[in-house]
Amino acid sequence: MRTQVGIIGAGPAGLLLSHLLARVGIDSVVLETRSRPYCEARQRAGVLEDGSVRLLREVGLAERLDAEGLEHGGIYLQFAGERHHIDFRDLAGGRTVTVYAQTEVVKDLIARRIADGGKIEFEVTDTAVSGIDSDRPRLSYTGADGARHTLECDVIAGCDGFHGISRRAIPARLCEINERDYPYAWLGILAAVPPSTDELIYCHHRDGFALHSLRTPQISRLYLQVSSQEKIEDWPDDRIWEALGHRFALPGWELREGPVLEKGITPMRSFVSSPMRYGNLYLAGDAAHIVPPTGAKGLNLAIADVSVLADALEALLLAGDARLADAYSATCLNRVWRSTHFSWWMTTMLHRTPGADDMEFALQESQLRYVTTSRAAATTLAENYVGYPPLR
Ligand code: APR
Ligand code: PHB
Repeated sequence: MRTQVGIIGAGPAGLLLSHLLARVGIDSVVLETRSRPYCEARQRAGVLEDGSVRLLREVGLAERLDAEGLEHGGIYLQFAGERHHIDFRDLAGGRTVTVYAQTEVVKDLIARRIADGGKIEFEVTDTAVSGIDSDRPRLSYTGADGARHTLECDVIAGCDGFHGISRRAIPARLCEINERDYPYAWLGILAAVPPSTDELIYCHHRDGFALHSLRTPQISRLYLQVSSQEKIEDWPDDRIWEALGHRFALPGWELREGPVLEKGITPMRSFVSSPMRYGNLYLAGDAAHIVPPTGAKGLNLAIADVSVLADALEALLLAGDARLADAYSATCLNRVWRSTHFSWWMTTMLHRTPGADDMEFALQESQLRYVTTSRAAATTLAENYVGYPPLR
């Protein structure tokens, strides 16, 4: 079998790439280890940058996003018993973000690829890449039918997330890895209760960070900083609500509680592997980089990578022009490092490091005071949060 672009992974990166390529007449096949229902149910992030929304709109993928997404013109930063609004519209030239769950983006992408006749093979096993340093790279896999298949490609896109196989196909001696594990985790819940706030609340507290996010006008998403060793069994719902209520407490404001629909603990990590290309293998999204969730950047980086990659492959495969493809890694890494820095900055400004002294707390409060009183500092936060450099 032959295809122009073999894509490993049906997350947002792989699916969107396949759609962008199809729009310019480039054929691709997407291979995915999980089932379609699994991919569509996985709970992930939920904030789209301004440029991500524009891109999805431009390429005809925003029908449900425009109907159901919730546009947000800012966030609250809470510290020292005060809640301050950061106004993105004012500070970032009218730009905003949109709350629309990654799982909904994935549903929209899968439905659209299938409606357009796109090829997605779910439930494959033993995906392997070969010949990436030749002009005939190959993808082999065992299909859901149990038969072994080989796909001959012009290029391969590794969109298989952090635990995928594609990054490891690049010779280790050529990879530069930068990695940091944070000594804490997020306990996240999805709750059937209307959000108690009109904008997301990022809260600094002696007990640790807390975040109030949302999914719909009826569903809230909340997070608590917990230790990396914490077990979800030790957090019955009452204990979670009590900790959330305590950290968000503000006179005259109340946190509404409701049934917990889902809960889980996510570790926090920064990871960047470069270069993002080796021969005819291009990495995109979590396969090449991970950010801690505090800046809401993971999904947006995946979207930005494949937007750059689709343009590069269009020039390469349709016009024989390799300039954008040669620049792919450097172009993406510029944004990746900006987002990595922003996510690290938000994370370390808002979380309590286990065992840290009072100095850390005082420095964090001073930084939060600066961000909420200086227009220059608030602008830095706002333009990074809505997406810098602008994608569209
Ligand atoms: N073969 C085929 N598919 C694979 C393989 C493999 N060997 N290994 C992993 N996969 C699939 C996974 O099952 C997953 O569906 O690749 C997909 C990768 O998707 P994501 O993890 O969602 O990664 P990406 O598309 O880069 O999106 C990044 O996801 O983790 C969040 O915060 C992150 O929001 C960001 C987004
Ligand atoms: C989420 O809604 O899941 C979310 C929002 C903002 C973040 C991280 C996660 O910074």
